[in-house]
Amino acid sequence: MKKNILANDGIDAAGLARLNAAGCHVVTQSIPQNELIQYINAHEITALVVRSATKVRQDLIEACPGLKIIARGGVGMDNIDVAYAHKKGIRVINTPAASSQSVAELVFAHLFSAVRFLYQSNREMPLKGTQSFNELKKRYASGTELYGKTIGIIGFGRIGQAVAKKALGLGMHLAVYDPNINEVELEWSVAQNLLRYKVQTVQLENVWAASDVITFHVPGGEIIGHSELKQLKKGVVLINTARGGVINESALIEALDQGIVAHACLDVFENEPQPSEFLLRHPRIALSPHIGAATLEAQERIGQELAELLLQAYTNG
Ligand code: 3PG
Repeated sequence: MKKNILANDGIDAAGLARLNAAGCHVVTQSIPQNELIQYINAHEITALVVRSATKVRQDLIEACPGLKIIARGGVGMDNIDVAYAHKKGIRVINTPAASSQSVAELVFAHLFSAVRFLYQSNREMPLKGTQSFNELKKRYASGTELYGKTIGIIGFGRIGQAVAKKALGLGMHLAVYDPNINEVELEWSVAQNLLRYKVQTVQLENVWAASDVITFHVPGGEIIGHSELKQLKKGVVLINTARGGVINESALIEALDQGIVAHACLDVFENEPQPSEFLLRHPRIALSPHIGAATLEAQERIGQELAELLLQAYTNG
């Protein structure tokens, strides 16, 4: 089989070098979605590597009989029709472990920023910092500490567990929900000391009622809408680094405006790459453009892992 690879959303240099050294021909040019089928067929592409931007739907799979491998550099497979690809005998691979630390760190970047109003004061200081310093000082004087607060974690896979370990390090309490897990013993080391901590999951209702902060680490689907938002503690902070729509966007605006939610931190949006203007302009929504896995370290790990997985897939036919 020809080792012609199209890395349509890019691939880290280390992974690219490994593939080139193994004799693969890797194209890193980004082909527009509506030209992909033609490009793949014309260039005899056998492996298509994507992140979340490129959609690999049934029509593309159907129209590209030469495609043998679909590789997702990252975790979420919602942009790929995996079942259909399998039906067609196409191998589908991803890199589920490589970005956990990066996503977990982004959760806390947002969280620290939210509880001290940093995302708001960063918007205002350049405009009013010289004229109205004391006014701003007063406006942002009611921040809160994370120490001693309860963080609700919805979804307790690799990323949820990475978040839990960091939260414990900050002196936070956990309220964890995962329909597939009753109990898990976390194990990690801090300054060469091995730490263990047993986590028992609870019902969703308990997470809603107990949490000062809630973060979502699920593959997708609406988890929290109008009725759930009414069950939250007043002043809760919500963080979504999972998928757009996990928190219903219109219900969220309502809950923010009613003061139920103090801050929402959104890295992902229902309508990427054109998120709702209402969300982007809301004064109590902290924003980032889907960068959970976008660190140099995570992308290097992803690139290297992808390269090994692709080479294995080519070897196994
Ligand atoms: C993932 O599912 O791995 C993350 O959402 C990252 O997506 P990205 O590779 O498009 O940044």
